[in-house]
Amino acid sequence: QNNYKVAVCGAAGGIGQPLSLLLKINPLVSELSLYDIVHTPGVAADLSHIETAAKVKGFNGPDNLLEALKNADVIIIPAGVPRKPGMTRDDLFNTNAGIVRDLAKAAAQVAPNALIGIITNPVNSAVPIACEVLKKAGKLDPRRVFGISTLDIVRANTFIAEAKGLNPKDVNIPVIGGHSGVTIIPLISRATPSVSFPEDQLKALTTRIQEAGTEVVKAKAGAGSATLSMAYAGARFANSLLRGLNGESNVIEPAYVISDVTEAEYFSTPLILGKNGIEKNLGLGNLSDYEQQLLKAAIPELKKNIQAGVEFANK
Ligand code: APR
Repeated sequence: QNNYKVAVCGAAGGIGQPLSLLLKINPLVSELSLYDIVHTPGVAADLSHIETAAKVKGFNGPDNLLEALKNADVIIIPAGVPRKPGMTRDDLFNTNAGIVRDLAKAAAQVAPNALIGIITNPVNSAVPIACEVLKKAGKLDPRRVFGISTLDIVRANTFIAEAKGLNPKDVNIPVIGGHSGVTIIPLISRATPSVSFPEDQLKALTTRIQEAGTEVVKAKAGAGSATLSMAYAGARFANSLLRGLNGESNVIEPAYVISDVTEAEYFSTPLILGKNGIEKNLGLGNLSDYEQQLLKAAIPELKKNIQAGVEFANK
């Protein structure tokens, strides 16, 4: 088909702008709909001069939200406040939870078939919030709502490649679980190409992947959290959704979705993506003993995060 409408909510932000740029140069996008509560006309005018086919439209403020999302094929949500030093992702909870709730309500109204990718943190809670809102509106399709955990994979690929002197493009580390701290479970035992590390180095690499967001928050010293790498990861994920929509077979990408592969109700595992979003959940696969331990530590934390999201959406 090659002509998909993609909407970005929070398009004027640190993630939203570079993400919108990357989507503007994606040949599968025919219409790029930029929504934010500030600065959208400027960002849209700027991007609209780029010599690619996607038509860019800016929508500013809540009065224009429904028009922005109307009949979108894909909606990517990086709207929210970013993390500052000393804040955990969960400190962001109340503000960002309300933003995601309102955007999901609007999507349920005007874009019931959209594939929705959520970047807004805490992702572990934001995805359950969106799903609860869609469920209440009678519009929940569990195949169509995703938490974008791609940045964890991107980071794992980069760090493992560095440690082994490989080209990161040739490395693939599956990462499962959630998108915060101990809920992030890198499966280094399933790396391609296969790699092995002494136990202490394996643990140090795992911790670095789990805490990589904090590395950026500290380095930015008050200016926010990861934006450019997150935009890259968001664009990579959006492209996988679009390739699936476009009928390409065997598009595999992990994301945080409604899932029964563990006792947590939401979980990130590799997925096969197609015309209706998730075609098949590839599940946990084999885990090493160490990864089993990580999974055990992740589940209770994940359940807390999910519960917080469900409670927020239903209060
Ligand atoms: N609707 C749409 N956009 C909104 C809303 C809303 N209700 N509230 C805020 N925004 C917009 C802001 O106007 C801003 O342009 O979201 C954008 C957020 O941009 P930044 O403040 O630069 O934050 P950013 O670093 O992009 O992070 C956004 O992604 O990774 C997560 O933790 C991060 O939750 C945070 C989000």
